[in-house]
Amino acid sequence: MDMTNSSAVVDSRCSVMFHPVSTDRASAGRVDGPGPGRPWSAVMNSREHDDYATEGMPPPLSPDSGDLKITDGPAPGAGRSDDELLRRIAEWGIERRQWLVGFPVNLDFDYRPLADFLAVSLNNVGSPYTPSGYQMSTKPFERAVLDFFAGVAGAEPGEVEGYITNGGTESNIFGVRLGIRRYPDAVFYASADAHYSVDKFAALFSMDVTKVDVGADGGMDIEALADACRRHPGRPAVVLATVGTTMTGAADDVAAIRPALRRAGVERLHLHVDGAFGGLIVPFIDGYGPWAFDAGADSVAVSGHKMIGLPVPSGIVLARREQLEGVRHYLPQVDTDDHTLTGSRNGLNPLLIWWALRRLGRDGLAERARHCLDIAEYAERLLAAGGAEPRRCPHSVIVSFDRPSERVLRDWHLLDSGDRTHFVAMPHITRDHVERLCRDLGGARR
Ligand SMILES: Cc1ncc(COP(=O)(O)O)c(C=O)c1O
Repeated sequence: MDMTNSSAVVDSRCSVMFHPVSTDRASAGRVDGPGPGRPWSAVMNSREHDDYATEGMPPPLSPDSGDLKITDGPAPGAGRSDDELLRRIAEWGIERRQWLVGFPVNLDFDYRPLADFLAVSLNNVGSPYTPSGYQMSTKPFERAVLDFFAGVAGAEPGEVEGYITNGGTESNIFGVRLGIRRYPDAVFYASADAHYSVDKFAALFSMDVTKVDVGADGGMDIEALADACRRHPGRPAVVLATVGTTMTGAADDVAAIRPALRRAGVERLHLHVDGAFGGLIVPFIDGYGPWAFDAGADSVAVSGHKMIGLPVPSGIVLARREQLEGVRHYLPQVDTDDHTLTGSRNGLNPLLIWWALRRLGRDGLAERARHCLDIAEYAERLLAAGGAEPRRCPHSVIVSFDRPSERVLRDWHLLDSGDRTHFVAMPHITRDHVERLCRDLGGARR
């Protein structure tokens, strides 16, 4: 399949996408390898990179903190010079899409047509399903988004409810808290590769997390989970399964968890699925099968800023309706029902997500997922050809490879993970990014 064409299809289908990635600053040509008998690792730290490094790359802007100081009255720079500074920072941020290949965020979006809402105070306080005393909300849009995600997560209509959160961590806190409320004497389990925030919020609940090893495919070893449960006979379990880990993109086999725990004698289980990353990838992989409510989940988290793309973080959480009963109450101060974790709630994000999803639809999301998987495969091939020892878990858009120089890590926005780093194929990434990265790794000049 020709990826250049395929990304063009994605661009034309998804009108939420920003202007097509421009190639005038960067070569879209052939991949120059590191040369016969010369693996990239041999040249990754060599001097010849230093010039190549910044070619076409806008330098980071670091405004002087003195210039940013807020004063008693309007500051001397307030007005045109501040606007100019902010415009340049925004341009720099937009330009990063050419270089950011190491984080699970999509940079291909443009919500500027909705700029009027920057002059409206939106607040979705309370439940998305009941109006509140505060009239400027976007709750009907939020409900439309939640209904859509319920379908993606394999729920029957009306079976689940939720809300739009501030990100994956809040969604996971919400889901795990439901489990702990159901079973206060539960043991909390998650895979060793679960997101780092799991440790933070376990501390919030004054609980330990029992970490379960991952298997060869990067997913939680379900037999090891069952064995861990057997060591706590009679205790209920709250299990956080991850679909798309942050570092490898591997997915736990959610459908196998409930039956395995039943065999291990666990009668009371709350199964929360952290699909912050993979929740908008695996549902679109042909033949992948059930991964969320249809795989026995009680609650599910998905990110808004990862595959969809948003200017600020956001998340979606859904849970089986009956499990929300215990956390639902009426808030007289704002005249609404509430099952959410926070007070005031962001009313802009639901609008942005709805707007993006109306343009993409399910087919557009599927196209994006396929695009990311194709790009990951392409990166794996090119990195292997250059001797960078790539590895990729099944169905993952993350390709780990040998750690390059500090300079390459910084320029390409790659995370330092010891002797490895990670390429993350997100919707804004094209073949051109892969080729430029590989040329940079190889130190080859055009
Ligand atoms: C699998 C997974 N879970 C949870 C999170 C936390 O999400 P957030 O940073 O939006 O709170 C992330 C973020 O990268 C993630 O990848």
